[in-house]
Formats: sequence, C-alpha cells, structure tokens
Amino acid sequence: MYLYHYGLAELPFNLTPDTDFYCELPVYSDAMNVLRIAIESGEGFVKVIGEVGTGKTMLCRMLLNYVEKNAHSAYLPNPYLSPNELRLALASELGLRIARTIDQYQLTEKINKRILKFHDQGKQVIVIVDEAQALPKESLEALRLFTNLETEKQKLLQVVLFAQPELDERLAKPDLRQLRQRIAFSCKLKPLDKRSIDIYINHRLRAAGLSLERFPNGSIFNSSAIKSLLSRSRGVPRLVNILAHKAMMLAYGRGSFKVQAIDVKNAAKDTDDISFHRWWWALALALGLGGSFYGITLMGWQP
Ligand SMILES: Nc1ncnc2c1ncn2[C@@H]1O[C@H](COP(=O)(O)OP(=O)(O)OP(=O)(O)O)[C@@H](O)[C@H]1O
Ligand SMILES: [Mg+2]
Repeated sequence: MYLYHYGLAELPFNLTPDTDFYCELPVYSDAMNVLRIAIESGEGFVKVIGEVGTGKTMLCRMLLNYVEKNAHSAYLPNPYLSPNELRLALASELGLRIARTIDQYQLTEKINKRILKFHDQGKQVIVIVDEAQALPKESLEALRLFTNLETEKQKLLQVVLFAQPELDERLAKPDLRQLRQRIAFSCKLKPLDKRSIDIYINHRLRAAGLSLERFPNGSIFNSSAIKSLLSRSRGVPRLVNILAHKAMMLAYGRGSFKVQAIDVKNAAKDTDDISFHRWWWALALALGLGGSFYGITLMGWQP
C-alpha cells in the first residue's frame, strides 16, 4: 500500500466514520450548533436529514461524544425495529434488565420510571436514532409517546433522528402529522463545495499523519485534482473518500507524490455509483437531445 510512499501512519480515507478524522466544516458545525441548541432548549424531536454518504453517522458519533458529558444517551443504530423491539432496545440502553416475556404496559412503565429517575439525578435522556428513515410508522409513534413525559418546563426525553430524505417524504403524509408537529428543530446536510473538499482532504491527510515537513503546503492533491473530486463525487464525502483513496494509489503506481486530475478521472472509472451516475446523465442528455432533434424534424416536416 501507499502508506510508506507518502509517509502516512494510517489510511486517510477509510470508509468507517471515525471521529478522530472528523473535519469541522461549516455544514457540520452548523448542524452541531442546531443539535446543541435543540438539546439545551429541551424540545422533543430534532432531525438531521442528509443524502446517502453525507456524514450522518459521523455526526451521530460526534453528538454521542458531546451528549455523554451532559446527559444520558440511548443509541439506536439499527432502526428496523417493531414497537416492541424498540421499547426493549430503549430499555437496554437505559440500563434496564428486562425479561423478554414482559408485557408492553409494564415495559413502558419501567422505561418511564427510569427516565424520571434520570431526571431526578439531573440528567436528560437523549435517544439518538441513526437511519431513522427505516423506522416503521408504529415505532416512530411509540417514540413520540415517550416524549409525552414532561415537566412544566421541558421534555424528559428528547429524540434526535438522523435520516435520509425519505423520512421527510414519510413525514409529509397525514398519518405522521402529529410527529411532524413535534419536530421543533431540523437541519439538512448539504454536499461539500470545492473549498470544503480542499479543507476536508487536507484535514484527513494530516489526521492520518502526513508530515508537514515533507509536504509543506499540507497537500498531496493539486488544485485540478480537487476540482475533479468535486465534480465526480458531487460533494458527497463517502464518494470523495473512495475516489481520493484510489487516486492516491494510482499516483503511487506512477511513482508520483502528487495526485492529479487524471488520477481522479481514472479512479472514477471503476467506481460504481459514480460511473452509474455519469452514465445516467449521458443517457438523459442523449435522450433529451434526441427528443428535441426528433421534435424539430417533425416540426420541419409539417406542411
Ligand atoms: N465531518 C466529517 N469529517 C471527516 N470525515 C467525514 C465527515 N463526514 C463524513 N465523513 C466521512 O464520509 C464517509 C461517509 O460518512 P457517513 O458514514 O457518516 O455517512 P452517512 O450519511 O451516515 O451515510 P449513509 O446514508 O450510507 O448511512 C465516512 O467515511 C466518513 O468518515
Ligand atoms: Mg450512516
């Protein structure tokens, strides 16, 4: 691998959302600010929406680190849960030992009592759900009912939902309008722009141990490589990681210390999501052009 070649301690573009590599770009610091304000104000529901690969799980982990110091967190990373399974998972995250045979009424009571106990100890309970677009409607409703527990001043349980845009589509439907009204704060993770990608790449390289003595301007990627990363990744961090990793391998294969636009272009050739996306646009363009040509030709033929 290229670690020795570039003088790195570890791979800079791993796909695991590792908080040691967290890069505080405006899009993420804005979202973290919204989350902090929402948690401090004690409202019931908060949501963070982002397309696939835009950094939701990374942010989720950053939030867990933040919440750990100030409250009790219950983390639900796998939301394919029926209401019953959701209550059991929540109970376990709250430190309750529950027999699988317990009836739902008793289980709800135990959870409510536990939440009240945390409140007496001065601790808020924050449920953090990743991939929340996959939560069945009944389970979303079960979560909503837990947020009914409140004092005169604040909710005793808060829920932060991290989800793909499909959740918004589901919330737009009438059967989830009660939950929709409870969402007091929300934010969207936008794709990265060129400047952000530049900062992102260099931040991850430095976090992986890139030596500033060997690379005084802190980068391996030249400006046209960054431009190419932007257009091919559409600003999606996961795609940036995949392309950047492959492009570094290709530059290493050439024996070069600089990644250029051609490396990114070649890296994109065998990257599924990118090839598919480009192929799809090319097809749409061809159909569009073909359609207009056909229309013009037909019009030309009219007497
Ligand atoms: N702020 C950030 N700083 C550094 N790396 C990031 C950041 N945000 C995302 N990444 C990287 O981008 C990649 C995708 O991030 P993540 O897995 O969090 O996306 P996601 O939105 O949860 O994707 P999915 O919708 O598939 O669950 C990961 O490799 C992660 O390390
Ligand atoms: Mg994720």
